[in-house]
Amino acid sequence: MGKLNLVIIDRDIDYVNCVSDYLISEQAQNFFVSTYTEESAIAEFIAAETEMITDGIFLVCREFYEQVLQKEKGFVILLADEVSIVKQKDEGRAIYKYQYGNRLVAEILKIFAEEGALGNTFNNGFARKAKGKKHKIIGVYSPIGGVGKTTIAVGACIQSAWEGKNVFYLNLENIATTPLYFQGKQEESLSNILYYLKCNSPNLCLQIEGAKCVDPLYNIHFFQPPDSSYDFTEDVSQELCCLLQELRKSRQYDLIFIDFSSAINKNNLAVLRNCDDLLLVAEENFTSVVKIKCLLKELHLLLSREEETELRERFNLVLNKTLHAVVDNGEELNITINQKGVLSRIPLVENLTIFQDGVFKLDLNSSFGKAIYQLLLNF
Ligand SMILES: Nc1ncnc2c1ncn2[C@@H]1O[C@H](COP(=O)(O)OP(=O)(O)O)[C@@H](O)[C@H]1O
Ligand SMILES: [Mg+2]
Repeated sequence: MGKLNLVIIDRDIDYVNCVSDYLISEQAQNFFVSTYTEESAIAEFIAAETEMITDGIFLVCREFYEQVLQKEKGFVILLADEVSIVKQKDEGRAIYKYQYGNRLVAEILKIFAEEGALGNTFNNGFARKAKGKKHKIIGVYSPIGGVGKTTIAVGACIQSAWEGKNVFYLNLENIATTPLYFQGKQEESLSNILYYLKCNSPNLCLQIEGAKCVDPLYNIHFFQPPDSSYDFTEDVSQELCCLLQELRKSRQYDLIFIDFSSAINKNNLAVLRNCDDLLLVAEENFTSVVKIKCLLKELHLLLSREEETELRERFNLVLNKTLHAVVDNGEELNITINQKGVLSRIPLVENLTIFQDGVFKLDLNSSFGKAIYQLLLNF
């Protein structure tokens, strides 16, 4: 079983049509939707002697809530027409009625997750999505700060989303730049997710669904940055690996891009080892040469020989901010990680980030965008 019966009971026809249109077009894989808007039909439904569906969700307006609650064996949620009602309600379940469809669904899933109800149903449902597609985790790493990890990761996300792929952007920077590129209204952040992971919550899948943001422009999924950068100073390597497993298991995403911090620590090493492919970003300058050498030395110290070889082999060298004219810097500027050589050279582009329609956008209609497009053809 993967789909749930969702019954909406409300006399406001326009509202109900609007919500059910959204559910049918965007959430058809998760819900069977039925609606009751006419007073007589609602009365008949409530009075019916037949056993009501026990694994259904009932979204019910204030007028009929108590009646349905008394009768119902399923999961009854009040569709509150005022935010204050949701806040004041200390018994039963309530969600604010007037919000975007994806938020409404996220709130329903959150309630499920908190009450531990029907977890497996949803787990199975989400796991069945997008069967047969490739699901890849691509990490964008460099020990060098300001080299372009975030810009490349974000550009790769946007390009992939434009190509129709389902994309998740996971930011692991100490101070995240996520709000610069992606918009999302969500109170929960990666800190909440790390907490759920620590508690070994059985409803992780639902909690992730409920906590994620969906950027309205690109349809890219992501989490709000952690409440404090201190969250990453702890050892959360196990939690992060578990999160990757969950995201992978959900089979919702064709591509998951990880935007790393420059640190070489337990968290980053564990996540790096869980990526399918890795982009190692450098510039053609001496800082890069020194820092990459340092990285390789650290890998040698921290990992077993097999782990070290395996990780080094998975790196794909990407040179960012390259100049058109090839500058002969001599032998010393050779950066060698493995036999693969340089996978991609991304040119230096002026005014890469533009402010348009009230938000910052990466100008992918540039030689940077073309290089990202070419780069992605390798995966
Ligand atoms: N190819 C490029 N051309 C021009 N500017 C770039 C390029 N790549 C990155 N930048 C700029 O470099 C700065 C640092 O990039 P960022 O992605 O934040 O680095 P990191 O994540 O590695 O710290 C940003 O201002 C970004 O716009
Ligand atoms: Mg960054």
